[in-house]
Amino acid sequence: MERLQNNFVFILGGSSGIGRAILEHFGSKLESSTIVFTWRRKSALEKIDFGFVRGGNEVIPVELDLGKEFEVMAELDKWIGSCKRVIFVACAFELGYDQSGVSGLNAARISKYFNTNVSNFVEVFNAINRARGSKDFTVFNLGSSFGYEGPSYAAANWSLQCVGKASRGIFLRAAQQEKGDFRILTLMPGLVKTEMLQEAKDLGMSSHSEEESSPSEIAIRSFQLLFEDTIDEPYSVFTK
Ligand SMILES: NC(=O)c1ccc[n+]([C@@H]2O[C@H](COP(=O)([O-])OP(=O)(O)OC[C@H]3O[C@@H](n4cnc5c(N)ncnc54)[C@H](OP(=O)(O)O)[C@@H]3O)[C@@H](O)[C@H]2O)c1
Repeated sequence: MERLQNNFVFILGGSSGIGRAILEHFGSKLESSTIVFTWRRKSALEKIDFGFVRGGNEVIPVELDLGKEFEVMAELDKWIGSCKRVIFVACAFELGYDQSGVSGLNAARISKYFNTNVSNFVEVFNAINRARGSKDFTVFNLGSSFGYEGPSYAAANWSLQCVGKASRGIFLRAAQQEKGDFRILTLMPGLVKTEMLQEAKDLGMSSHSEEESSPSEIAIRSFQLLFEDTIDEPYSVFTK
């Protein structure tokens, strides 16, 4: 299928959780495509077995921590090269769960959280959007009900995550409406069994749902939305 070929996929946060499942699924299903994924912890990178790569795909790991200085522009032009479609999979998002709730937050913590998850994310988006030129461009955003529903989910313990998720979603929507020459697919996956979910549970999270998916189920759904469905709308939000 022509759509499976000559893609450039950039997975922000592809070393574990949902991003890693997407990396493995796309790396085995796409053809003649370049997949760049970012990793933050070396221990996560080292767990990846690259035996999944098929179809003449090239898979390139890149160290990137949104909480620190990073440079992604340098290689983007080279990586995108002659690829026809550019897809930015936005996964990385730090857990914003706080047992002490609003009273435990302080200005420095709020500032760091938003720099990492929103401002620095915008830098990555801008770099990819510049480098893709006029090529077909899709942002695939792993969203959350925190950014789209409320206010019942906006519990005090989740306040950072709720506002951070909403900010990212609003930025993407505004950017799409302003330029209009790319599309945004947002998938709200519900609860997914990943390290982040486990971390939240260990901290005593309260949850609105008991149902949990596996990362590979979300990867299959992501692939279907990006490569098998024909979605014309410039901005769409899906649930699992
Ligand atoms: N899991 C759920 O139940 C759930 C529900 C709704 C929405 N989501 C959303 O789905 C996305 C993926 O979640 P997940 O559960 O798969 O998370 P995860 O298991 O914690 O994985 C997150 C990925 O992002 C990377 N990452 C985290 N913080 C980073 C930072 N500061 N800079 C650069 N990379 C960073 C991690 O890198 P390393 O592994 O190398 O550290 C990892 O590759 C997130 O946007 C999340 O909000 C998840």
